[in-house]
Amino acid sequence: MMGRAGAGVFVSFEGIDGSGKSTQARLLAEALGANAVLTREPGGATGAEDIRRLLVEGDPARWSPETEILLFTAARRDHLEKTIRPALAAGKTLISDRFADSTRVYQGAARASLRPLVDELHRLMIRIEPDLTFLIDMDPEAALARGLARHSGEDRFEELGLEFQHALRAGFLALAQSQPGRIRVIDGARAQDVIAAEIAESFHAWAAA
Ligand code: ADP
Ligand code: TYD
Repeated sequence: MMGRAGAGVFVSFEGIDGSGKSTQARLLAEALGANAVLTREPGGATGAEDIRRLLVEGDPARWSPETEILLFTAARRDHLEKTIRPALAAGKTLISDRFADSTRVYQGAARASLRPLVDELHRLMIRIEPDLTFLIDMDPEAALARGLARHSGEDRFEELGLEFQHALRAGFLALAQSQPGRIRVIDGARAQDVIAAEIAESFHAWAAA
C-alpha cells in the first residue's frame, strides 16, 4: 500500500449524489471534536475550491472526460498540499467528503473506460489513500430525490440522471469488494442518527485495533 501520510488518520466518505455523505462526514467530525478536520472534494483548499466551481457549474458537456480528470486531479493535489498533509502531520483526523474513489468511479468506471488514466494520474500526483473509507450506499431513486431537492446551483453532475447513478452505485460497491480492509459499506437508507452511531462505532473499533 501507499503508506500513511503522517501521524494523523485519514478518513473519507464516498457514495452517489444525495446518499448522505456530507451529513455523515459532518456528524463524525462533530463526534470527534477538536481533533477532527472536516474537508471536501472537489475543494477543501482555496485554489481547489476555485477549481470546484469550474467542475460543478455550467454545461454538463463543458469539459472532455480527459480535461475533467485533470481538473479533479489538480483540485486534489491542491487539497493534499494545503489541507490534507498539514492536518495529518499535525496528528489530526482528516475527514474528507469524497476523495480519489470518486474519480475512480465517476470518471474511471461509470462514464468512460478511462480508469487506467485515472490510476496513472493518481500514482503520479496523489499517491496516498485514506486509512478508512465509509461508502454510504443507497438506492439511487431515493438519493437522487434528496439531491435534486437542494437546488444548490451545483447540478452539473446530478443532472446526469438515474441510469448514471445506478452505474455509480455498482462502481462504488465493486471498489468496496476489492478493498474490504479500507472501505466499509454503510446502509444509507436509515435515520441519520442510526447511521452516525454505526459509523462512530466502526471508526472507534478500527482505531483501537
Ligand atoms: P450527499 O453529501 O451524499 O450529497 P447530503 O448529506 O448532502 O448528501 O444529504 C442529501 C440530503 O438528504 C440533505 O437534504 C440531507 O439533509 C438529507 N439526508 C441526509 N441523510 C439523510 C437520512 N439518513 N435520511 C433522510 N434524509 C437525509
Ligand atoms: P459533491 O459536492 O460531493 O456532490 P454531492 O454532495 O451532490 O454528492 O461533488 C460534486 C460532484 O462532483 C458530484 O456529482 C461527484 C462529482 N465528482 C466527480 O465526478 N469526481 C471526483 O473525483 C469528485 C471528487 C467528485
